[in-house]
Amino acid sequence: MLEDEIDASRPDPARVYDFFLRHVGGKSYYPVDEQAGSQVEEMWPGVSVAARANRAFVLRSTRWLAKEAGVRQFLDIGTGIPSEPNLHQVAQAVAPEARVVYTDNRRIVLLYAEALMSSAPEGRTAYLHADFADPESILRSRELGDVLDLDRPVALSLNALLHYIADDPSTGFSAHELVRRYTSALPAGSYLVLTHVTPDFDPPTWRKVTEGDRSITGQTGQIRDRAEVERFFEGLDLVDPGLVPPHRWHPDGPVPEEADDVTVSMWAGVGRVPGS
Ligand SMILES: C[S@@+](CC[C@H](N)C(=O)[O-])C[C@H]1O[C@@H](n2cnc3c(N)ncnc32)[C@H](O)[C@@H]1O
Repeated sequence: MLEDEIDASRPDPARVYDFFLRHVGGKSYYPVDEQAGSQVEEMWPGVSVAARANRAFVLRSTRWLAKEAGVRQFLDIGTGIPSEPNLHQVAQAVAPEARVVYTDNRRIVLLYAEALMSSAPEGRTAYLHADFADPESILRSRELGDVLDLDRPVALSLNALLHYIADDPSTGFSAHELVRRYTSALPAGSYLVLTHVTPDFDPPTWRKVTEGDRSITGQTGQIRDRAEVERFFEGLDLVDPGLVPPHRWHPDGPVPEEADDVTVSMWAGVGRVPGS
């Protein structure tokens, strides 16, 4: 769903996430988001640590892609409210010519999108207000076409996004099919990067969160276990160390001290589109 106007009367996933990041600069949330976020925190006390561990993974994986894998093009869907450093700042610190397209479906992100446009002069960034569930509106957009060359490798990041995308067996709507639609549009040498919340490390807490979350935040979504998250990488080569909690993926940069598997309760991985 593409949000047309900011609705300050209902919690919003981008703003609630910013509330979880409040100890590291998040400040773009409304009372309704704070209330919803606080209720989630009562059920999942580690959620702020998880948000920081996730954000740290976003930055470390971007640096790895730019530095070790030589990626120069990035498509980040479900960007969230800008949070310094943003993905392009990390990529361009390694390669100033790096190009980044950011996308989110929430109006609040569009409102702050200027912070995502501070590209190094050698590179380029763009912001697109679009819905992940409508791949053509992203892959065929003018913004993407102006900035990225889909004949050359692209790192597609779907960090902390896919748990908002629920499968609907009655219509055949499937998050896995959607991800495949994106990865099949990318050439060999491209990458898929994602994080996803999981019940695997603490099933009782997650039963509470999934039952409670919907009534509190009004969000639909789907929590997935390891096998379901791994299936997003079908046909791709998972990069070492495979699917692990985000704080365990190449922890050669900042990782929150309090991060442990139960607290963070997420999977993170990077997969490469095989070939050349
Ligand atoms: C938890 S935040 C993650 C932000 C960032 N990717 C990160 O990992 O730090 C999830 C973001 O996904 C966005 N989102 C949720 N559903 C979406 C959809 N269908 N299309 C595009 N963005 C979506 C939300 O608005 C929110 O900004």
